[in-house]
Amino acid sequence: MKIVLLGPPGAGKGTQAKDLSKRLALSHISTGDILREEVKNNTALGREAKAYMDKGELVPDKLVISMLQSRLTSKSANNGFILDGFPRNLPQAKALDEMLKAAGIDIDNVFYLEASEPVIVQRLSGRRVCTKCGAIFHVQNMPPKTENICDKCGAKLYQRSDDHEETIKNRLHVYLKETAALIDYYKKQDKLHYVDADREADFVIKDILKIAKGS
Ligand code: AP5
Repeated sequence: MKIVLLGPPGAGKGTQAKDLSKRLALSHISTGDILREEVKNNTALGREAKAYMDKGELVPDKLVISMLQSRLTSKSANNGFILDGFPRNLPQAKALDEMLKAAGIDIDNVFYLEASEPVIVQRLSGRRVCTKCGAIFHVQNMPPKTENICDKCGAKLYQRSDDHEETIKNRLHVYLKETAALIDYYKKQDKLHYVDADREADFVIKDILKIAKGS
């Protein structure tokens, strides 16, 4: 199964993708997570990407597309994948179609997680992420059992450097300018499913699973 999760920042793409990848045994490919790992390891790609990420701008397509290509063709993606945060604009969507065509595969479903602006701002400002395993929490909505400690691996939680008011505003602006056009792109391919992502995570995943499993 090949799935794309679309939606504004904070809609819950990462939260849903982590859960879906376990339930459906699919590889979770998050370009945001990969880029943050590159930044953490201070690689050349990470150093170049950081300036864009801190401002809430998109990292140039050339860098992101080649980074994604190596993940898509890796062995761990053989059983299928969930793309979270890619594609982000039309050139990336077209590049993805070409990569998949060359590999003789296709996307099955694109889920558009719709979330309203007040919900997005509340979610992003309270998000906390595990420094080690990347598990996602929220200080109010999904609090860890012990403050600032990951339930899953016991490491410390941190607040993402782009989860601050000004950067959140710009990420939303970039989303509307660049990414929202993908809704029509996938509608035309008859792959798009709207999911109301303002609701609790359990309701959201139920809708996705129902469609993904075709029941
Ligand atoms: P990326 O990491 O992809 O960030 P994003 O798209 O802005 O999305 P987020 O990770 O902020 O939100 P999410 O929808 O995953 O929400 P989450 O599940 O965490 O990208 C970051 C940056 O990297 C970009 O700005 C760009 O610079 C660069 N980049 C990445 N991909 C790129 C690409 N393809 N091209 C170019 N540049 C790229 O949930 C948010 C919070 O809400 C959490 O605290 C969670 O606990 C909580 N929550 C989730 N669901 C629910 C729910 N249903 N109810 C209550 N709380 C919930």
